[in-house]
Order: sequence, then C-alpha cells, then structure tokens
Amino acid sequence: MSRVYNFSAGPAVLPEEVLKEVADEMMDYNGTGMSVMEMSHRSAAFQEIIDTAEKDLRELMNIPDNYKVLFLQGGASQQFAMIPMNLMKNKVADYIVTGQWAKKAYQEAQKYGKANKIASSEDKTFSYIPDCSDLPISPDADYVYICENNTIYGTKFKKLPNTKGKTLVADVSSCFLSEPVDVSKYGIIYGGVQKNIGPAGMVIVIIREDLITEDVLPGTPTMLTYKTHADAGSLYNTPNAYCIYVCGKVFKWLKKMGGLEVMKQRNEEKAKILYDYLDSSKLFKGTVVPEDRSLMNVPFVTGDKEMDAKFVKEATEAGLVNLKGHRTVGGMRASIYNAMPKAGVEALVAFMKKFEEENA
Ligand SMILES: Cc1ncc(COP(=O)(O)O)c(C=O)c1O
Repeated sequence: MSRVYNFSAGPAVLPEEVLKEVADEMMDYNGTGMSVMEMSHRSAAFQEIIDTAEKDLRELMNIPDNYKVLFLQGGASQQFAMIPMNLMKNKVADYIVTGQWAKKAYQEAQKYGKANKIASSEDKTFSYIPDCSDLPISPDADYVYICENNTIYGTKFKKLPNTKGKTLVADVSSCFLSEPVDVSKYGIIYGGVQKNIGPAGMVIVIIREDLITEDVLPGTPTMLTYKTHADAGSLYNTPNAYCIYVCGKVFKWLKKMGGLEVMKQRNEEKAKILYDYLDSSKLFKGTVVPEDRSLMNVPFVTGDKEMDAKFVKEATEAGLVNLKGHRTVGGMRASIYNAMPKAGVEALVAFMKKFEEENA
C-alpha cells in the first residue's frame, strides 16, 4: 500500500484510522452480515448509526437543544436555493461576497427575492475579508449570509459580522469541525462534508428550530423544505446512508483526538509551519492578507506560471498531490484539513525549501 499526502480541497484526505475501520467492516458491519452500503435505511442497525452520528456531532459542537441537525443530499450548492426558499419571508436578504461560493449563493438568492450585496472583497481578488462591523444591513432582511471559510481564496472570517440582530446564515463547508464554534450565534450553519468530514454527496445543516416552518416560498418542492427533513429525522427519503456512516466514524475519531479545541491547536500548529515558511521564502508568496488567513486552505504563488506548473509537477512526483490552485486563480493551494497529519505539512515545506534552493 502506498499513500500520498493529498492536499485536495475536496473531496479530501480522511483519517487513515477511519478508512481502515470502514474497510474492516465492508463485508460484515457489526454482525449484520452485510455492508452499510447494502443496508435498509429503515433498519435498526442504520437507525443506530444515524442517531449516534447526530449525538456525537451535537457533543463535538455543543449544539443547543433548540437546533436540528439534518443530513441532506444535493451538496452545499443545493443550500444556495434552499436557504432563500425557506427563509425569505420578506423576500430580502443581505449577502457578504467573499469568494466564488458566496457569489454563487448570492446569485441564486436573486431568483427568489431581493438579495443585496452589502460587502465584497472582489476588488482585490477576494484576498481579504471586508470590515463587517457596521454594514448597511437591510431593516427587513430575513438573514445575513456569509461563507465563513473561502476554500478557493484561503480567507476566513476571524470575527463574525455584526448582523444588527438579523439571523446569520453561514456556509462552513471548508472549516467544518476545524475549531470550536458558538452555534447559538447562527440561524443556520451548513456545509458539504467532503472537505473535513467524509465522502462527497452530503451536506449537514444545523438549523435553529424557529426557522423550520411550513411558511416557505410558494412552489418550494417538498424535498427542499427543511420541515420535511426535520420532521422525518433526515429519513424522509433514502438518505446518503454510507456517507452518514463514514461521517459518524469521523466524529468518533474527532472525539478520540480530544475534540474541537484540540483540533484547533493542531490546525494552528500545522498552518503556522506553512505560513512561516511562505513569509520567509524568496520564491513562494502567500496570497492572503495575514490577518484573514485560513487554517484550512493555503494558496500561494511564485508569480511565474511556468514555475508554478514545474512545482506542481515535481511535488506530485514526490507524493505531494493535488497542489494545483483552483482553475480560476491559478498558482498553488494546499488544503490542510483535520485529517492532514503534521508530517504531511512538514513534508510539503521540506519539499518547497528544496525546490526553492534548486530554482533560486
Ligand atoms: C465553501 C464552499 N461552499 C460550497 C461548495 C459547494 O459544495 P458542493 O460541491 O457540495 O455543492 C464548496 C465546494 O468546494 C465550498 O468550498
């Protein structure tokens, strides 16, 4: 077996321990004589899997009792429509546009009501987070929307925006479970799981109960109504059962590692190794203003496209894979999610130093 260090932004590296466990249980899950892939989602065995996953996630994130946890399909992108369809009672919402994913959500919301762009960092290629302490929040806004960690550009909100009392909705796809959060500050926290938690094809939505109503926009499909899934314990239809099972394993792994406070320390330590080197390098340069740097996604460039391509090629040959930046920005990006070991980041920095010496 030969494993690489996988710096993909998502689908992304998973803990080896979890991969081994699910491999061991592939033919016979817990004496059932079948794989979780083959199991009815109405079986007692699966009910226990989903209940345990939810319980462990609640414990990890300290989710208050007045929030529901939903395991839904359609990825994070489906939420771009589902949020306005369910929350736009006044048909007004404010969007802070800090990257492509926030922009897509903002554009989608325009189909359902008046979506206002109240702040943006597009003027500098989304390389910073705008000051959100006193924004022109619309008096009748149903919610204020952010993408908390910008996967493509490598920025992170270090402080939540002042929403002036309005409901905060956050896409946390690429920082999910990377550090503790105060769930009570949000109306909805949601994220695709394929970055920090599990296989692709599922989104976890943590939603305050008062936001789950039958009063949705006319024409909202049953499947896109939060109430449908909340009432059915995420089992209205056949869920992504295998994904829920793997996510549950990752929650157990996170608990065993010591929980989110410990993950935060580990993530800070890992990111510092890379950022410190970027700050000292003469060849490579980080693209984000230091105060808004993400702990999860670290974009960097040499300033020369050919040199970037040479770096990505040689790194791949050295077993450091998926370092090419997003197709819209170029350069490089190292995604260093929870499951990326410190040794992986050290190996990357050692390789970068060597590359810098050879190409000085
Ligand atoms: C922050 C963020 N939001 C949304 C998405 C879209 O997720 P999905 O492909 O699950 O729809 C991504 C995917 O990379 C992302 O990084």
